[in-house]
Amino acid sequence: MCGIVGYIGSREALTVVLEGLHKLEYRGYDSAGIASIEKGELFVYKEVGKVAQLEKGVERKGWKSHLAIGHTRWATHGIPSEKNAHPHLDDKKRCAVVHNGIIENYDAIRRLLEKRGVVFQTDTDSETIAQLIGFLYKGNFLRAVQRALPLMQGAFAIAVVHHEQPGEIICAAQGSPLAIGMGQEEMFLASDAAAFLRYTRRAIYLRDSEVAQITQHGVEVFAADLTPIEKESEDLTHAIEEVTKGDFQHFMLKEIHEQPQSIQNALLARFSKEYGTATLDNLNFSDQELQQVERIVILACGTSYHAGLIAGQMIEEYARIPVQVEISSEYRYKNPIVRDHTLAIAISQSGETADTLAAMRELHEKGAKIMGLCNVQGSTMAREVDSSIFLRAGPEIGVAATKSFTSQLVVLSLLALKFARMRQMSAQEGIHFIEALEKLPQQVQQVIQVKNPIAMLAKKYAAAEHFFFLGRRYMFATALEGALKLKEIAYVNANGYAAGEMKHGPIALIHETSVTVAFCCDSFTYPKMMSNLMEIKARAGRILAIAPEGAPDIEGIADDVIWVPPTLDALSPVASSVAAQLLSYSIAFERGTEIDQPRNLAKSVTVE
Ligand code: F6R
Repeated sequence: MCGIVGYIGSREALTVVLEGLHKLEYRGYDSAGIASIEKGELFVYKEVGKVAQLEKGVERKGWKSHLAIGHTRWATHGIPSEKNAHPHLDDKKRCAVVHNGIIENYDAIRRLLEKRGVVFQTDTDSETIAQLIGFLYKGNFLRAVQRALPLMQGAFAIAVVHHEQPGEIICAAQGSPLAIGMGQEEMFLASDAAAFLRYTRRAIYLRDSEVAQITQHGVEVFAADLTPIEKESEDLTHAIEEVTKGDFQHFMLKEIHEQPQSIQNALLARFSKEYGTATLDNLNFSDQELQQVERIVILACGTSYHAGLIAGQMIEEYARIPVQVEISSEYRYKNPIVRDHTLAIAISQSGETADTLAAMRELHEKGAKIMGLCNVQGSTMAREVDSSIFLRAGPEIGVAATKSFTSQLVVLSLLALKFARMRQMSAQEGIHFIEALEKLPQQVQQVIQVKNPIAMLAKKYAAAEHFFFLGRRYMFATALEGALKLKEIAYVNANGYAAGEMKHGPIALIHETSVTVAFCCDSFTYPKMMSNLMEIKARAGRILAIAPEGAPDIEGIADDVIWVPPTLDALSPVASSVAAQLLSYSIAFERGTEIDQPRNLAKSVTVE
């Protein structure tokens, strides 16, 4: 994962790079580091932890420079430590490298170099890049990098500086994004253009196997054999979004509260009530193409995968198109079968998740059209798919996905509606569906209003160490998502299951201290759900239910109930998930975990 940044120009390079690193911290925050060259000398400074730590250290040093590269790390190889933090150096300490990605054959390269006397200092795969370039350097910096690249397998975006070439940065990419920002007599590079957008909006993106030589005056891009390539620059139009926590203690809480508005934004001008259908903007597929779709494959990871599961259920129910919902990291290795009229829908908040990008590329190569649902304009997904639909959730800073999830659900509901209306759904049914969608912002607001009672329940349950999250049909994936949220921010063992599966094994774990969070808003399976909960109650398990107002029986079965407004089964995951988000947030708060940046995680998962 990780984020890399570089700058060369007349500004204070360390400041520009540190600023960029703050913007890229969503890609990892295990450690951070910076390298620069001044008067022919290479300076490196690293800190374990967040960029703010690094910033303090750099300030104390008082260094000044016009060239710098920096890195914020999510550890893959080697524990988060100062030693393993980037930039990495070759053993003569002449060149420094920052790297995003994984070098899969690092061990082979390391052993080869060690046999030739190279001494390694760290446990990382990334150090092999610096050592390899250092080893191959014979006075021509660009040539050394170019010779190293074909020897490295895996995904990478790298930036390299060499103390004998103080006026240039060499960078290259293979399967990981790298943007080069072009200013007036100053140049930038970053894993995500957001790092330099406030300075320039003119940029090029490196493609696989390309190498770039960046000086203050401009950039030259070469193919793998060093043949020069002419690249057209793009004008980046996406907005610079500065976000603060406002009066909230955490970004996550703020983002939970933003959901009435973000859902409203996701819906805005995207349906016609008169015709009872969705009118998704800028869809690069004609109605005829959509009508011809015979099979849909949904690709996603984590929370986005849960949104995909719910969408799959919805599209099958309403449009009767077979949908296969796949975890990207598994699907990409299945050698997928793609028939004519298959549409792939890739879902990703960040638009940078490496597995989802790889899975969608695999399908694209096999002839499938790709529709991308993402939240970040200018992201790799948005640039590569045949058609993008943006979530319009606004920047999501908390690592745990909240508002992006409910926006995904809303946008996918619109898509399901569009497909359904092209097939069997009547205009009247479409209007009924839209009316239910229109009520969602208000219903979510109602759930947010009970945040204090939910916080009280959290106090009651916060000490439990084992949670089950159960649901059926639309509530199954909702339960999976609820469990994921609790795990990641409260560090509690929470297992999401289809409620009907409990009796096939997991029920053995139910006892008086286990807590079952029961999602009861699927009306079709409600009676079955009640039977499953009785089975848990019979084994003395504690039950906290999330149920639609007015639901029968549940108060007699559950220890506690969080009531949410009733809606269509297909849309019920929205309000139920907001209740579950508040519950997880409050439990994490009680347990004193680091809610916005939980341990071991990153907002954007750019390694496979
Ligand atoms: C959980 C969470 C992750 C992401 C997953 C995919 O709260 O945020 O599980 O959903 O890493 O990320 P995107 O949606 O950016 O592809």
